[in-house]
Amino acid sequence: MKYKLLGKTGVQVSALCFGTMSFGGDADEGMSELLYRRTREAGINFYDCANTYSKGKSEELLGKFMAAERDQLVITSKVYFPTGSDVNERGANRRNIFLQVEKSLRRLGTDRIDVYFIHHFDENTPLEETVRALDDLVQQGKILYPGASNFAAWQIMKALGIAEREHLAGFQVVQPMYNLVKRQAEVEILPMAQAENLAVIPYSPLGGGLLTGKYASGLPKFGRLVDNKMYITRFGEDWMFESARKFSMFAQEAGYDPAALAVAWAGAHPAVTAPIIGARNIEQLQGSLKSVEIDITPQLYERISTFSPQPDLATDRSEERSDTVWFK
Ligand SMILES: NC(=O)c1ccc[n+]([C@@H]2O[C@H](COP(=O)([O-])OP(=O)(O)OC[C@H]3O[C@@H](n4cnc5c(N)ncnc54)[C@H](OP(=O)(O)O)[C@@H]3O)[C@@H](O)[C@H]2O)c1
Repeated sequence: MKYKLLGKTGVQVSALCFGTMSFGGDADEGMSELLYRRTREAGINFYDCANTYSKGKSEELLGKFMAAERDQLVITSKVYFPTGSDVNERGANRRNIFLQVEKSLRRLGTDRIDVYFIHHFDENTPLEETVRALDDLVQQGKILYPGASNFAAWQIMKALGIAEREHLAGFQVVQPMYNLVKRQAEVEILPMAQAENLAVIPYSPLGGGLLTGKYASGLPKFGRLVDNKMYITRFGEDWMFESARKFSMFAQEAGYDPAALAVAWAGAHPAVTAPIIGARNIEQLQGSLKSVEIDITPQLYERISTFSPQPDLATDRSEERSDTVWFK
């Protein structure tokens, strides 16, 4: 396993992060522990979690498994999405952040969370309040680095500006969705992260399983894109299935496990620190773990990138992308 710097923090993390969203849900406790042990054997020291995963069970299980080796790990959690029916059990306001971080620390059985993400931009809370609340937690040692997930680039930059102006701790890590059929991050998030030297840990490198090849010849009996409404909406478009089919055919013909190749492609973008891999059993995990053995040459990277449309530029001035010489 390779280790990489987490942005400008000086902390070293494995080139794969393991996502614990399946702990206590798609994977029961026994399977979750096996997944944890196998990822440790593979050299992973980086675990992504959230207060909402399996209603807190995921944090509890991660806390239990890591208890004897907590100091060797870099762990994350998140706050924003509703954790109950109370109107205030949600959001990135000071009140909820302070409430949720205590609950997460208790469930994880630790005194600090290495990277604490705001799980989604909060339109109801001034960014300054969110940034200040995170800074207070950094001062108290309850979180070490703030992070932002599912934010637009301008929202992250606005927060970084506030942090700089007010001398507060700014976001150090960003967590966008990124895979071969969801490439929006290429337009602004990834270049911004490179310009600001922020760590990037993209989630869903397999498009929820779409890029593993198991959807190439019709719908399987089980799977995220069969039983999870949110994922069906996210990855259900015909062109995505077509891209995934072509990609997995190419992978198999070239002698790669499509899952391994899809993760390797997401990890090969120069802005990316570590893709977050997810699995419900050991067989699935092995596929994603094999990604670290693949050498993504520039030619292979370009070839894979042709299987889905390159997203539009951030401005309408796009003609320079064509081969036409406009000015002589
Ligand atoms: N910040 C956010 O908003 C956010 C959102 C989502 C996820 N995340 C994080 O990112 C992690 C990974 O996300 P993800 O689960 O969406 O990632 P993903 O890698 O796109 O999908 C993983 C899923 O694909 C299927 N799969 C994996 N390997 C397979 C294989 N070899 N063959 C067939 N199917 C396979 C499994 O689902 P099935 O068995 O159900 O098909 C597995 O749970 C999560 O654990 C979480 O930590 C963050």
